[in-house]
Amino acid sequence: MDTASFCHTSGATALETRALTKDYLMGKERVRALDAVDFSATQGDFVVINGPSGSGKSTMLNLLALIDRPTSGEVLFLGEPTGALSEGGLAQLRRDQIGLVFQTFNLIPVLSAFENVEYPLLLTRTSRAERRRRVGALLEVVGLADFARRRPDELSGGQRQRVAVARALVTQPRVVLADEPTANLDSATGRQIMGLLQGLNQNHCVTFVVVTHDPAVAEYAGRVLAIRDGRFDSGAEHVDPAAS
Ligand SMILES: Nc1ncnc2c1ncn2[C@@H]1O[C@H](COP(=O)(O)OP(=O)(O)OP(=O)(O)O)[C@@H](O)[C@H]1O
Ligand SMILES: [Mg+2]
Repeated sequence: MDTASFCHTSGATALETRALTKDYLMGKERVRALDAVDFSATQGDFVVINGPSGSGKSTMLNLLALIDRPTSGEVLFLGEPTGALSEGGLAQLRRDQIGLVFQTFNLIPVLSAFENVEYPLLLTRTSRAERRRRVGALLEVVGLADFARRRPDELSGGQRQRVAVARALVTQPRVVLADEPTANLDSATGRQIMGLLQGLNQNHCVTFVVVTHDPAVAEYAGRVLAIRDGRFDSGAEHVDPAAS
């Protein structure tokens, strides 16, 4: 399958890191979770970062998502450095340009599937009619049109993750970041979710960065990078999508 066929990118950089470093303080001890990482993803890329537990994947994702700040080095978003932005500026970028999918879904338990997907739009100036249209269309895409009124506890794990994927996409972000999107799913449901992300990447040219310890996720990637002890392996595998 030619995974690049629908997504003609300009080759512009969506996300880039320069010597990105993150230390955590454990009492008096410093733990270097990320060590001078240089990374870049172009618009329309589908990058999977693969590595064992504790290798720095969530640290990397939270820095790319502008949720955490680095100890040193920087994150560039759509070519723009983010280090000097205020909390408000970062929040605005997160809200308008970034979609997030978490390992644990992070849905709001008292809201229906529809309301969970709609929620990020309530923070924007999107009209009620437009909200309904977008949420309805996305629930359709993720195969949950008939489940719109159910609360998360009335849905299966895979259905909850599909709600989370729809929520991540509802603001039409340029970049979607996913932390272990298949970790709480059986392997068949995990494949379904990854197929869904792959389709969205191909058909809508959304840039995806997925971090996972699950080697099976790599088969959906345009590019696979291996992380270990906070560094990217120099011998990281490169998958040519046109050849798969
Ligand atoms: N808040 C924190 N305080 C101290 N150390 C931390 C903190 N968060 C992460 N670490 C440490 O940083 C390293 C990287 O952690 P990180 O959560 O990024 O790993 P990971 O690859 O996502 O692991 P997993 O696959 O288990 O989710 C680990 O050694 C971890 O113990
Ligand atoms: Mg993690």
